[in-house]
Amino acid sequence: MSDSTAARVSAAGAPAVELRGIAKRFGDVTAVDGINLRIGDGEFFALLGPSGCGKTTTLRMIAGLDIPTHGSLLIFGEEVAAWPPDRRPVNTVFQAYALFPHMTVAQNISFGLSMRGIRGRDAERQVAEATALVQLEGMEHRRPSQLSGGQQQRVALARALVNQPKVLLLDEPLGALDLKLRHEMQGELKALQREVGITFVFVTHDQEEALAMSDRVGVMSRGRLLQVGTPAQVYEHPANRFVADFIGRTNLLDGTTLGPSEIRLRSGGVVTAANDVAAGTAVALSVRPEQMQLHRVGDAPCDAPSLDGIVADATYLGHAYVYTVTLDQTGRRRQSGAEASPEVITVRAAIGSAAFAAGEPVSVSWRPDTTTVVTD
Ligand SMILES: Nc1ncnc2c1ncn2[C@@H]1O[C@H](COP(=O)(O)OP(=O)(O)O)[C@@H](O)[C@H]1O
Ligand SMILES: [Mg+2]
Repeated sequence: MSDSTAARVSAAGAPAVELRGIAKRFGDVTAVDGINLRIGDGEFFALLGPSGCGKTTTLRMIAGLDIPTHGSLLIFGEEVAAWPPDRRPVNTVFQAYALFPHMTVAQNISFGLSMRGIRGRDAERQVAEATALVQLEGMEHRRPSQLSGGQQQRVALARALVNQPKVLLLDEPLGALDLKLRHEMQGELKALQREVGITFVFVTHDQEEALAMSDRVGVMSRGRLLQVGTPAQVYEHPANRFVADFIGRTNLLDGTTLGPSEIRLRSGGVVTAANDVAAGTAVALSVRPEQMQLHRVGDAPCDAPSLDGIVADATYLGHAYVYTVTLDQTGRRRQSGAEASPEVITVRAAIGSAAFAAGEPVSVSWRPDTTTVVTD
């Protein structure tokens, strides 16, 4: 890396970004509430969570645009708390591209270089490289108003990459694009990250996007980091009820643990479910719709947990059937009174499996090793 800022921070082995007990308060609002996180060099890391959970504030603290109220922040092993944004080896791409409307594509891209005194041949070469990276060759002389949304986002990317940051921060960069273009850009951005090899910290509220693009995901809620793991880890082993519900679709069956391998469901019945919480704890059993099977009543395998119910809705999606099933409430009515609302679950079944119609009584089964017991 030719950039002197970048060279200064290449302490071997240190994480690209490390947050130690980072918190940020705005008056009474705690935007970020004590986050510990290490992001590896060259990693594509997604920070995922609903609107208002503190993603942008976290990113702005890494960039130096917001100053933490507590904690320390290291970039390649160096404490950067006292460093102004332009001294950090970091660049940010925002959802609102913030391109200069009166400048051409090439002028937009070279802006950061000229701010650092890089002009002439050197600048031309670097602008050409960045333009090629984002596949905008031939568009150098257009103005932002003459580009599509996707092309404008590429200019914003090139404008950040031309500065050769060691870490690229992306704040919902695809949020303004329509769904089809968004999917295309997801693939391109991932390929681009592999090509340039720098660390990406990618903020999104879209769980599918986070799973599809990243090496690891950090799931945030209310200023806290609830779980960090690979897409498969957070999907298959959610750390708590929030993560189970937020990542993908799942059925959360309320119950109480009876021991390390059993829970009593609120809807009635005792089912096998491995857990490591104390007996008597209120829990939810998370079962993914694609891990559930529907059977005619009485046909459920006797060695697997199962529940009876009635098909409330059957939807054909072309690539799958999706059923909603209202569970039998006999056990539950006994416990909590007839006014309790019925428990409804979703089952996703492959085309080619037996079809069921609304109104049919059914049994729903699942393999216990595909479930997770979660607490709040
Ligand atoms: N400059 C600010 N002043 C006051 N409150 C703020 C400011 N920036 C963010 N917040 C609040 O902090 C919380 C987290 O915001 P933000 O980091 O933007 O969340 P996200 O990017 O996940 O949507 C929100 O409650 C937001 O209203
Ligand atoms: Mg935000």
